[in-house]
Amino acid sequence: MISVILGLQFGDEGKGKITDFISRDFDDVVRFNGGSNAGHTVVINGEKFKFHLVPSGAMQSSKVILGNGMVIDPEELISELELLKKSNKNIDIKISAGAHIVTKMHKCLDKKEEGIRSKLNIGTTSQGIGPTYEDKYARTGIRFIDLSNKEIIKDKIETIYNMKKNLLAGSIYENPEERNKMVDELCSFGNSILKYMDYTENLIYNDYRKGKNILFEGAQGGMLDIDFGIYPFVTSSNTIAGALTTGSGFSFRKVNRVIGVFKAYTSKVGSGPFPSEIVNDSTLRDLGSEYGTTTGRPRRVGWLDIPLLKYTIMMNDVDSLAITKVDILGKMKTIKVATKYTIDGKEIDYFPKRLEDFNKLHVDYVEFPGWGTINNAENIIANGYDELPENMKKFLEFIEEKTGKTIDIISLGEDRKMTITKEIFN
Ligand code: IMP
Repeated sequence: MISVILGLQFGDEGKGKITDFISRDFDDVVRFNGGSNAGHTVVINGEKFKFHLVPSGAMQSSKVILGNGMVIDPEELISELELLKKSNKNIDIKISAGAHIVTKMHKCLDKKEEGIRSKLNIGTTSQGIGPTYEDKYARTGIRFIDLSNKEIIKDKIETIYNMKKNLLAGSIYENPEERNKMVDELCSFGNSILKYMDYTENLIYNDYRKGKNILFEGAQGGMLDIDFGIYPFVTSSNTIAGALTTGSGFSFRKVNRVIGVFKAYTSKVGSGPFPSEIVNDSTLRDLGSEYGTTTGRPRRVGWLDIPLLKYTIMMNDVDSLAITKVDILGKMKTIKVATKYTIDGKEIDYFPKRLEDFNKLHVDYVEFPGWGTINNAENIIANGYDELPENMKKFLEFIEEKTGKTIDIISLGEDRKMTITKEIFN
């Protein structure tokens, strides 16, 4: 079985939890995009594990692969690998020779670029993601394999510095000694992680030929995709299912199932249009503890948005849906769901690309009564879907009807065991 799991909103859908849950059925888990801008939390028997680079499937699978589409901060990687080895001792770790390296200078550039953008400030995670992808496409980027060659690292650091000198004015990187220190540091990181390097496109293909089950794990969400998200309030990589091919080298034609994860409501960190946003009421944010895993920033929170969901379902060609935080949403007395977008009185069936259109966008909602706090979770987990509160079932069935997709996984709490599935995943 070859599957891909993705977020269908603005990231933070709870993919980490669902990925961890299903990864027991997979031998290899492959990440193909992004870097430490992502934050995945996995909770096992009350113990919390937070990862940014390592795939969330790492706790239960036997091999994790960090693909060429990723941008890797080696210092962060080293500390995550230590944590991972404590909980999954026998895990085999492989990192693509072609993945790109995030340096401290890239993080500095991320902040400098944000400082220059005025109205179109993105609110990035400051993890150096954008500048590292810029260098990748400018063909000056430092790849994982380059960590084995001090001369190449030095040459590339100088090239990047010279190209971006104006931006780096006033920073410590104006001092050549600081740049040399960075080169030494990168070499020493290389000494401890180069042993994980591989030509992962061949490795994944060979595992596929051996009949291994492989799960591709997307980071961020469909609405942060550089091409199909709300540009420019997006991340610097493609986040949709198709990106697994360019980000790992594996053919999308061999994927058997696309699993789309969404939260029972919507949240977003950073700026930009958010059609179903709840303004001036933090009840849902507080109930859901909606604060960024990577930045700690309070997330913007809104209602579930069906037009948005239908768009990302289409862009990812989703087969199966997984919903998270449905227990949290139920605590709201009245629940709203966005059902329709209109501009100048006309319903639209596309996602606007002109930012001004969002000012004219009218959103229709329907309301559902909440289902309160779930007190019989153990009974539900043991006996499945039929035991869910009636109001929750109506809400879930409404989503299925509107999207034309079945919700096969329902998450009722952060712990791995707080999950019910339909037959397909049993
Ligand atoms: P960057 O990826 O750090 O450049 O940030 C670009 C935009 O994507 C910002 O609005 C971030 O808040 C958002 N973003 C990036 N990664 C994630 C994520 O994993 N979850 C939620 N938002 C994210």
